[in-house]
Amino acid sequence: LYRSFGNERTNSMGVNLANDQQLQTLAAEVNAAVGDWRAAPLVPGATVTGPNIAVTNPADRRETVGQWQAADSATVELALKNAVAAQEAWDATPAASRAAILEHAADLLEQRMPQYIALCTKEAGKTIPDGVAEVREAVDFLRYYGQQARKLFAPEALPGPTGESNTLHLSGRGVFVCISPWNFPLAIFAGQISAALAAGNSVIAKPAEQTNLIGYYAVKLLHEAGVPEAVLQFLPGDGATVGAALTRDPRVAGVAFTGSTDTARAINRSLAARDAAIGVLIAETGGQNALIADSSSLPEQLVKDAIGSAFTSAGQRCSAARVLFVQEDIADKVTTMLAGAMAELKIGNPGLLSTDVGPVIDEDALKMLVEHAARMDKEAVKIGEVAVDADSAHGSFFAPRAYTLKSLDQLHKEVFGPVLHVIRWKADQLDAVIDAINATGYGLTLGIHSRIDETIERISARVKVGNCYVNRNQIGAVVGVQPFGGQNLSGTGPKAGGPHYLPRFTTEKTITVNT
Ligand code: SER
Repeated sequence: LYRSFGNERTNSMGVNLANDQQLQTLAAEVNAAVGDWRAAPLVPGATVTGPNIAVTNPADRRETVGQWQAADSATVELALKNAVAAQEAWDATPAASRAAILEHAADLLEQRMPQYIALCTKEAGKTIPDGVAEVREAVDFLRYYGQQARKLFAPEALPGPTGESNTLHLSGRGVFVCISPWNFPLAIFAGQISAALAAGNSVIAKPAEQTNLIGYYAVKLLHEAGVPEAVLQFLPGDGATVGAALTRDPRVAGVAFTGSTDTARAINRSLAARDAAIGVLIAETGGQNALIADSSSLPEQLVKDAIGSAFTSAGQRCSAARVLFVQEDIADKVTTMLAGAMAELKIGNPGLLSTDVGPVIDEDALKMLVEHAARMDKEAVKIGEVAVDADSAHGSFFAPRAYTLKSLDQLHKEVFGPVLHVIRWKADQLDAVIDAINATGYGLTLGIHSRIDETIERISARVKVGNCYVNRNQIGAVVGVQPFGGQNLSGTGPKAGGPHYLPRFTTEKTITVNT
């Protein structure tokens, strides 16, 4: 989708914009979409009685964009019963038919791109280019896992002695619970669900509480494409009522989760404590992502990629760069250029094509960032801060900023927003830098900027991360091209959008026949 907009004009984040007629038309359609969206549990047979809860626009809390209703305990129980009852028939549906339904959903999503981008803009504060990327990634996941299922589910004949036939068959594990994050409310939501469905599982989808509307309309679209309503159910609600009830239930075969490391640990404990088959957990969690630049890097390219990696999506990507380790020889030049480039960023209304950085997701996120900035203002040296060209009194806007730190120890946890921390290193400290990055225990993305092959090889061999990007930005992994996911505290694997993801949602059966 990005490529189809291609022309030479870009904004300061490198996104094609300006006079591109197609994008202008899209933006007009997105902004014209009226927010009167409604989300509620999608569970056959359920009576939804909960109060309507208003959804407000993070860019302007005075604007109500929709309403949602939470699932209660009875609805959770009914969803589990439905999911168990529906799974066998779905599993028996040929993988090619399941794939065709997912591919149909991808087509529908492409046709309705403006409406889905509008939901991402108004409920999650995404800029329009981020909305385009979000829809594109969701479409890619639907098609990719469909395609993978067609290949994976072909029965495999195994070698064996004469007079015997051996075949290996895959099937779904059973009921899968998909718990998705607000930062990719359509892409990761659709990715988890489509993988679980492609593999023959029934799915209960629990969206993040901040993005119920997007989740609801994604599930409606999958139903329209042909997924039976009991095979894919939607359960919005708080983590304690809905998430915890699902993950401790013995009828659940597995959980796909994206969110914090602490919540992943809690889900793991909950699955393990059940008097049931051992559940599978596929978790994608946080990061403390670094970018290492040596003195051979090109400062212009480094600054462009650091800005794109740290501030795109208001820094609310688990892949985002948090710490730039820059070699001392070029550090003054790089920080001066960084401050200059940051001054060009436009923070404001995400519906405007000129906006580089929209709001953060909610007031809790804003409060955490304001507290972090207050500490950094005391303990670190500020390099640059962007002026907010938006109504901060009513929207959750946080000015992107950068600080020079003395050491990584000054960061106690991941700061999920547009803050870049810069640490200088000397020529003989490269291994110490790599050790410090590995010592965080996180291992999601790493950027390397260098023109020296030995340095690139040394860093990429030693660093314990899932995605290593050299001389480019470190966000925006493409499905099927850059399988995405981390190591250690950053996730269990297998990588989303990679060839090993779908098999984790399946169980295997070998059939041996004496012929
Ligand atoms: N997959 C996203 C990216 O690569 C992060 O969640 O930016």
